[in-house]
Amino acid sequence: MGCTIIGCGKALPALEVENDELAKLVDTNDEWIVTRTGISSRHVAVGETGTDLAETAARAALGWSQEGWCERSLAPEDIDLVIVATITPDALVPSAAGLLRERLGLEHAIAFDLNAACTGFIYGLTVAESMMAACAPGFPGAPGRNPVRRALVVGDERLTHITDWADRSTCVLFGDGAGAAVVEWDEKRPGILSSFVLNTTDDTGALSCPHAFDAHVPFDAEGVVPSALTAADRAPYITTPAASHASEGSTEALEASPLQAIYMDGQKVFKFAAEAMTEAIHQVLARSGVALDDVACIVPHQANERIIKYAAKKLGRPMDLFQLSIANVGNTSAASVPMALADAYAGGRIKRGDKVIVVAFGGGFTSGAVLFEA
Ligand code: UT7
Repeated sequence: MGCTIIGCGKALPALEVENDELAKLVDTNDEWIVTRTGISSRHVAVGETGTDLAETAARAALGWSQEGWCERSLAPEDIDLVIVATITPDALVPSAAGLLRERLGLEHAIAFDLNAACTGFIYGLTVAESMMAACAPGFPGAPGRNPVRRALVVGDERLTHITDWADRSTCVLFGDGAGAAVVEWDEKRPGILSSFVLNTTDDTGALSCPHAFDAHVPFDAEGVVPSALTAADRAPYITTPAASHASEGSTEALEASPLQAIYMDGQKVFKFAAEAMTEAIHQVLARSGVALDDVACIVPHQANERIIKYAAKKLGRPMDLFQLSIANVGNTSAASVPMALADAYAGGRIKRGDKVIVVAFGGGFTSGAVLFEA
């Protein structure tokens, strides 16, 4: 018995932006971006919300459109749980999952968001499986819990809306999109065989993004300071990590940066990512007793093709073991793995009975993997 993936779908915004277009914004070129990242283009949501993207991906995974892959079409009342992994929800309240639940008419479902940066989908699968297992027949205390038989796990991002388009070291990397998977508790199939999630301290702030709503409060340690509430104070005032990393006395970064933008020390993140990905793969293999030779496909976070090549080399396996979907998508954070998974299923490279690993790393730092039988 176990938690099995029975449907997958993805959605990309209509606008596709080629590398050459970015050379009009910052000092970059197609050759640098392709060679260093494997990215040729990315999709940018203009006039499309995160909920729009998540809805399209979810409909495909549920079998409500022809776009995705699914074993069978489900009814709205079949879904008990919606988890949306995202760092870019359309609103803080309602949650992205709540908005999606409403769009799809999933009246029986409970819904909440999860932020584990680019590893969000892996965390989401792990949480969904745990909730299903905890209410499965025979599990101690099961009758006292919310019954969760099927869940919709979604990764949904509009990273381009928290990108500093004047920072060439990050703006060439990110894109928007959504990926969705439907998982079902099945008494006859093994489904998820093992999982591993890990948080590691990012002590140098190598990957971060501030809140944009950190408004001035009219208090000091003694209490209310009425004079502190001037009109200027009421405008949200945010210093970005990029600004705090700028050389002393320089206001350039602060002026150029949007209120809320991703800061990344690419090389530090690269080193973390390369190690974290192989470690997570080793962990799920060890926890399940499955041999790497028996794994049919690895679906990794699509942050940089070079990181995937590094992992392939370290594991001593050819690149064709890995699903590569980065070229026309870029790094879409939590949406990256479920979109690549949808590609792998739709492309016929995952067949029933195959052993598959999904693996990711991201800000926080977070990392993790799930090994399942399809
Ligand atoms: O999902 C979240 C996790 N994020 C990641 O996994 C990202 C991990 N990091 C990376 O993928 C890579 O570090 C990057 C793609 C971000 C950068 O590649 P790199 O090979 O580490 O380049 P670098 O930062 O060492 O920069 C090399 C040079 C620098 O110039 P100098 O100092 O050698 O003159 C940069 O200023 O490339 C320059 N550079 C650029 N040149 C043209 C940086 N960005 C660009 C650019 N176009 N867009």
